[in-house]
Amino acid sequence: MLSQKPLIFAQITSMHRSHTCGALRQSDVNKDVQLAGWVQRIRDKGFVLWIDLRDRYGVTQLVLDEERCDAALISKAKTLGREFVVQVNGYVIEREAKNSAIPTGDVEVLVKELTILNPAEVPPFTLKDETDGGDDLRMKYRYLDIRRNTIKDKLLFRNKVAQVIRNYLSSQDFAEIETPYLIKSTPEGARDFVVPSRMNPGQFYALPQSPQTFKQLLMVGGMDRYYQIVKCFRDEDLRADRQPEFTQIDCEMSFVEQDDILAVFEGLLQQLLQDIHGIKPTTFPRLSYADAIATYGSDKPDIRFGMHLAGLNEVAQSKGFQVFDRQEWIGGFAVEGGAAMSRKEIDSWIDWVKRPQIGAKGMVWVKCNEDGSYKSSVDKFYSQEDLAAWASACHAKKGDIILVLSGGKAQTHTQLGELRLAVAEKMGLRDPKVFAPLWVVDFPLFEQVEGEDHFHAMHHPFTAPKPAQIVQLDSSPSSVFANAYDLVLNGNEIGGGSIRIHNRKMQEKIFSLLGFSKQEAQAQFGFLMDAFRYGAPPHGGIALGFDRLVAVLDGQESIRDYIAFPKNNSGRDVMIDAPAPLDDDQLDELSLQSKT
Ligand code: AMO
Repeated sequence: MLSQKPLIFAQITSMHRSHTCGALRQSDVNKDVQLAGWVQRIRDKGFVLWIDLRDRYGVTQLVLDEERCDAALISKAKTLGREFVVQVNGYVIEREAKNSAIPTGDVEVLVKELTILNPAEVPPFTLKDETDGGDDLRMKYRYLDIRRNTIKDKLLFRNKVAQVIRNYLSSQDFAEIETPYLIKSTPEGARDFVVPSRMNPGQFYALPQSPQTFKQLLMVGGMDRYYQIVKCFRDEDLRADRQPEFTQIDCEMSFVEQDDILAVFEGLLQQLLQDIHGIKPTTFPRLSYADAIATYGSDKPDIRFGMHLAGLNEVAQSKGFQVFDRQEWIGGFAVEGGAAMSRKEIDSWIDWVKRPQIGAKGMVWVKCNEDGSYKSSVDKFYSQEDLAAWASACHAKKGDIILVLSGGKAQTHTQLGELRLAVAEKMGLRDPKVFAPLWVVDFPLFEQVEGEDHFHAMHHPFTAPKPAQIVQLDSSPSSVFANAYDLVLNGNEIGGGSIRIHNRKMQEKIFSLLGFSKQEAQAQFGFLMDAFRYGAPPHGGIALGFDRLVAVLDGQESIRDYIAFPKNNSGRDVMIDAPAPLDDDQLDELSLQSKT
């Protein structure tokens, strides 16, 4: 956790408690108080008993001793076990041995009355910051895991981020409007989760992959600025930064151009960095998609460090090294100070790039020695002058190492991009306390998928082409760029959006380039194209991945622990055991099987 700043709480009282377990301080000494919470730890020294009482707000030490408490009370306390829910009345006293590690560490509560509100069985794993519970066990008993600071703090952090976002967007006149969850499928690239309709046998709703078409219709409806922190559902393979149900900060604005939208969301990120970490980023560089790939081998580059990729075809081909001569593209980057790498370390990187997840055939390296000479894995084929030219192309200095891959152009860029990240990670260059946002812009409108005779939308089918290139839609559609942009933070795609098509004819044209017949387009998206007949304003928007944003702001890349009840890697909720089969009656009622 990056953010350990104490949170400020209102004074919380209720019929069960006068204070929370995180509230008492030196200034409360001599007060009568009532606390309620969970027994975290009991230390029984026979004549004196200390109990750590925990709630969401903290831990307070309770004390009972033979001198000041009656015997019945002490015997009752001795029956307590871990995670019992108790209420105590007591008297705040100053601790003899203070504990500066916790905010309540100056005081303890001398117990006068003890009520067991609910006993507890021994939990299946220890509920401490360092737990002995494995992943599966903790997911099965997620409600116990949430009692641990590790998860609790992440959920509260998420809550704080949500508050800043709501305040900011509402200060910018965005209206929070809900859109339906039972909809018809929208083509966003992933598979839909579908819900059978009992009342319409054989028909299905789809859960939204995003509220894309609805937010556009809200613009046609004149709502001008909309936002929603909203669940989205995508049936895709899970990764550390992907869940089948996740949350978007979904926004749409009318009468705007790309710059207007970027300015509002730069403001949002500035506000978040300011309020959460006390920092203001000074710049939001804009990088074209093509430059991002060429320089970083990724459309979501981590720009906290250099190690820019360089093409080496000119200096590495036609020198007798056939492996390179055969390849479409050769590229590399310089690692500062890397000449000190041992042979073993270099070999481990060679193994790393050869893993199936990366898929390189091998890796060539060049050490730039301090004495100005070069030592490489391909010395047989390249002279010192040749290698000096490689070093110059990669901006390598004395003491650096150049790592080189070759193969198909696109694939090799991706592989080098992955290698760059892994090397930076190993070198500690991906500092989670440094935040380096950027916009990636000028995406191609379409992508060609191998084996398909029509284009795919790179963002989604509602994205507008760059106005100046509309004329090229007929002659060379693949050269047209989109009015689309991604927000990238520390190597993570935090959000994506675009200026939308608001003209029926243009939308029809894009659908046809995407391989929809007129009838198919009308059947699936007639409602949107019809809406465009009735005065659709120019509009555009963006959606930020809320789970990702929260995790990255907290210095993490896995989103799972920022979600109260996430799915495991097989898309299951092991706590409630979902998904699960339906019984025959339910299946019949939903017309999902023939009546027997
Ligand atoms: P896009 O598909 O780029 O855009 O999604 C927006 C952002 O949502 C996050 N995201 C996810 N987070 C967790 N788990 C997932 N499975 C997942 N999928 C996506 C990412 C991503 O950048 N309708 C458009 C937005 C628009 O054009 O306004 C859309 O959904 O951070």
